[in-house]
Amino acid sequence: MGNVLIVGDLHGNAEHALNLVRVAARNDCDKVFAVGDFGAWEHMASGRRYFDVVNKAAKRAGVTVYFLDGNHDKTSLLHELYAEQRDDEGFLMCRKHLRYAPAGHRWTWDGTTFAAFGGARSTDKGRRLAWEARKAEQLRKRRRYGSSKSADTTGTLWFPEEEMTDDELSELLAADGSPVDVLLTHDKPRASQPKWNRKDKPECYPNQDRIQTVVQTLRPGLLFHGHLHVRYTGTIAAGDGHWTRVEGLACDPDASQYLEYSTDHTWYVLQLPCAADAMTESESRSLPA
Ligand SMILES: [Fe+2]
Ligand SMILES: [Fe+2]
Repeated sequence: MGNVLIVGDLHGNAEHALNLVRVAARNDCDKVFAVGDFGAWEHMASGRRYFDVVNKAAKRAGVTVYFLDGNHDKTSLLHELYAEQRDDEGFLMCRKHLRYAPAGHRWTWDGTTFAAFGGARSTDKGRRLAWEARKAEQLRKRRRYGSSKSADTTGTLWFPEEEMTDDELSELLAADGSPVDVLLTHDKPRASQPKWNRKDKPECYPNQDRIQTVVQTLRPGLLFHGHLHVRYTGTIAAGDGHWTRVEGLACDPDASQYLEYSTDHTWYVLQLPCAADAMTESESRSLPA
């Protein structure tokens, strides 16, 4: 089995997706895993086309693309459409070569155990809801002249499912709280402190606290996340002498606001199998900050 290319937010950027598929093929990766804000917008024709384009490119390159929930993904629709179409590992098959890992999903690749806990809080929620309302008003006006059938724009720009509730998280961890080697999330754990942090806002803390709880329960040796749109490496305590190395990944070029951005910051080649145990304290101290 090949390696896994873990990638940051794509936000539906097809050109960037095709580039990442090429990077995967070059690096002996037969899987690409996007850690949220992938661009799951199948409520729009352009979103369905994006899925088709990625699926076709993945098929041609001999890779499968996976993703978990970002705050800007309409994943409620994926559950509606694909809950009955699961592959052997429990992923929802959106397309043959494009698969979705819902929150709390666990699996094993080449002896390495993984868990996905997506979701985050949108700091631009108010702006997105205002856009939805404006669109609804425009559609209502057009409908008056008989040129539009529907004025319902609810859930087209802001998605109520964007973050787990405390109860949902408790349920998932109660169902299985056993350790994993690699944890994949969209949001950062609360304790992780990158130098450039555009999500250091009180409304973001509850979900970061949830991810911190996941870290301290599952004690992964490695955690990959997106959402901050910046590349960094850090180390956080996972309790009882365990440490977790945190790898934050940058996003597609069109959405980046980081001055030192490079597309190389958007991906990480994870070689399998990777270390089964969480790092010891001495290992973690030898890592770059
Ligand atoms: Fe994002
Ligand atoms: Fe995000």
